[in-house]
Amino acid sequence: MVRGFMTPPMTSETPIHFRDKDKFRTFGRAKGKTLSPAQTALMEQVFPKMDISPAVSAGLNPLDDMTGDIWLEIGFGAAEHLLWQAGRNPDVTVLGVEPFLNGVAKAVKGAQDQGLENLRLYRGDVRDVLTLVPNESFDRIFILFPDPWPKKRHHKRRLIQDEFIADLHRALKPGGELRFGSDIIHYVDWALTRISRHGGFDWSPKRQSDWRMRPDDWPETRYLQKAIREGRSGHFFSFKRL
Ligand SMILES: C[S@@+](CC[C@H](N)C(=O)[O-])C[C@H]1O[C@@H](n2cnc3c(N)ncnc32)[C@H](O)[C@@H]1O
Repeated sequence: MVRGFMTPPMTSETPIHFRDKDKFRTFGRAKGKTLSPAQTALMEQVFPKMDISPAVSAGLNPLDDMTGDIWLEIGFGAAEHLLWQAGRNPDVTVLGVEPFLNGVAKAVKGAQDQGLENLRLYRGDVRDVLTLVPNESFDRIFILFPDPWPKKRHHKRRLIQDEFIADLHRALKPGGELRFGSDIIHYVDWALTRISRHGGFDWSPKRQSDWRMRPDDWPETRYLQKAIREGRSGHFFSFKRL
């Protein structure tokens, strides 16, 4: 927890953090169903203990009080993978960033149910966090099934852009891992093109199964299950930061 700041209680009416108004919005809904009274209570009482937004709002390094390895999951959706990783890696601080309020509420509930002490959260745009973190901060970054924005006129909304890849590279430690997954082949091509032309990542697959098979430590989310039901398959990539 970042000490020394008071965070106002978050409700479904709280606007999401989105500091850089010049950037295109990369996410869809910022909230869904109205939170239940139990979820609202958790957001008011438990979320502030994990929330890094006071530091982000103050323009400070939000990782300042974290020690040891830090992993970042960008766009954790319903938090299944985030909670899985945090639960199995208690010595790692896992930071999850997601603008969708109902997803954040799920992460808070899961953290409380599992008694997780190593989870930190930011409700908002990851680009607001990345601009504040020092170089070589993260040991792993996960971007799992980002919004594909299939229409050409929406491609500018895709999270993966050249500038964003450069930000990820800067924020990863040398030897650190960038995990990326997508069920949309056009987005796979798009991402591989940008990651490869950056030049600062190594990806050396030996066989097709290296990206067609889901690794054991990459649990399936409901998003992926739905994609499979609809006839798409997942593509799973692990890049090493050079
Ligand atoms: C298609 S969903 C996938 C969710 C989850 N990763 C999964 O695999 O189930 C993409 C998620 O990325 C989030 N997202 C989009 N742009 C983002 C951004 N700039 N910062 C953080 N999260 C973002 C969306 O809100 C959405 O929940």
